[in-house]
Amino acid sequence: MAADEAITTPRSTGSARADEAITTPRPTGSARAGSTAVFSDRPAKIRVKGVALSYRNNTSSTAVLSDLSFDVAEGEFVSLIGASGCGKSTTLSLLAGLRMPDSGEVHIDGVPVTGTGKDRSVVFQHYALFPWMRARRNVEFGIRQVSDAPKREIAAKAAYYLKRVGLEGKEALYPHQLSGGMQQRVAIARALAMETEILLMDEPFGAVDAKTRVVLQDLLLELLQEQERKRTVVFVTHDIDEALLLSDRVLFMNAQRISKVIEVPFEHPKKRHEIAQTLVYRELRKEIFDMFYEDEGEYLASGI
Ligand SMILES: Nc1ncnc2c1ncn2[C@@H]1O[C@H](COP(=O)(O)OP(=O)(O)O)[C@@H](O)[C@H]1O
Ligand SMILES: [Mg+2]
Repeated sequence: MAADEAITTPRSTGSARADEAITTPRPTGSARAGSTAVFSDRPAKIRVKGVALSYRNNTSSTAVLSDLSFDVAEGEFVSLIGASGCGKSTTLSLLAGLRMPDSGEVHIDGVPVTGTGKDRSVVFQHYALFPWMRARRNVEFGIRQVSDAPKREIAAKAAYYLKRVGLEGKEALYPHQLSGGMQQRVAIARALAMETEILLMDEPFGAVDAKTRVVLQDLLLELLQEQERKRTVVFVTHDIDEALLLSDRVLFMNAQRISKVIEVPFEHPKKRHEIAQTLVYRELRKEIFDMFYEDEGEYLASGI
């Protein structure tokens, strides 16, 4: 597949209503990259084009990404999904500016990414809180990376977001005094409180219990909705339902690149119970599940 083909799929389904999607069969191949590939008419907030990256040590070099291409429109929520080790976290670190590609382009607003920036905040897979700072200070620290606002304003914002993630009354606790789920809530509060244009999230709910996960998914949807879905989000997960609930598009990674682009034709605000009952949802779920399964087959066949 040529790099350009993988970058975009038509945005037509973005405006389709969920109930239309139930009754109207999706045009064949509309969910597949390449088959109807055109450039998006929405300007790309993030563009990754023809990226290759290898991890090297003294004795060997392991190719992780090759010809990786995709774009994310402003205000779009895109999930990266794929088997463990396929390069999702690596891709996110490129967008965060924590790692540079060996070749290819990573652009934000048309400008090459050369490092971290005030336009991006990141939620890492494993909390990444400062253990010597109280919850409140962890969030304030994040805000200060991107804002020169007065101390009182920063404190108020930190308190607001900690409350929104359900940590009112826990602001003065240190990370080790919080459960894993609570620590992750602090990390999420910190990223949200930074109010950056771009939010990069690496399996943010991967380590929390099932109930907390549902609560945090709903909270994220609610906050994005309140902020008029202005934020652009790239979200790594291997949970199919999570990807379908949160995303406008799901990018399936395999063989060091995006192998499929799946449009999720449900309008915001999405309600998990409503969308899960639709035929389209079940079809998309199966389509992604089958891709995982194929992946697994390849993996087993390779004899590793
Ligand atoms: N710092 C590193 N040095 C060497 N290999 C790495 C490093 N980070 C990741 N890898 C390897 O690169 C591949 C992709 O990793 P990663 O991006 O973390 O995948 P994912 O997030 O999809 O599970 C894996 O094979 C992993 O072992
Ligand atoms: Mg990862």
